[in-house]
Amino acid sequence: MKEFEIVIPVKAVTFDELDETDRKLVELARQATERSYAPYSHFRVGAAILLSNGEIVTGANQENVAYPSGTCAERTACYYAHATYPDATFKTIAIAARDTTGNEITRPVAPCGACRQALLEYETLAGENVKVILVGANDIYILPSVSATLPLAFTDFD
Ligand code: THU
Repeated sequence: MKEFEIVIPVKAVTFDELDETDRKLVELARQATERSYAPYSHFRVGAAILLSNGEIVTGANQENVAYPSGTCAERTACYYAHATYPDATFKTIAIAARDTTGNEITRPVAPCGACRQALLEYETLAGENVKVILVGANDIYILPSVSATLPLAFTDFD
């Protein structure tokens, strides 16, 4: 038997420690939570994606009375980004959320498994790491890549 560990590098930083570009993305992700449509969970999530052409695309979760028909903020943003700018690649994504009281969540928000898989597709297309910024009211976590969020990901058929 062999045993190994998979280690994920995470930097925990404050807002002030971010560079200007990342601060802007964090602010836009926070603002995007205001455009969430979450009448069922009241959990409002926002995402902001920086593209290689300099554009920043945002998205928010969109719920539906038929619950599974709703979509997370990350997938709203990444599908819109690639449908709008198919020739651009993803550079960085920031994700923020507010809880049912309307306050920003204390711990950095973690994307669901389906969103990690969806985002991985665009990291693969980019051919380089897409930085992930998980935003909380206190800490902000920075991961170097989408693949770091999804160890042992399904990537191909062979
Ligand atoms: N949600 C997101 O938008 N992103 C995530 O990473 C996790 C969950 C949404 C889906 C649903 O509208 C609400 O948050 C509660 O699960």
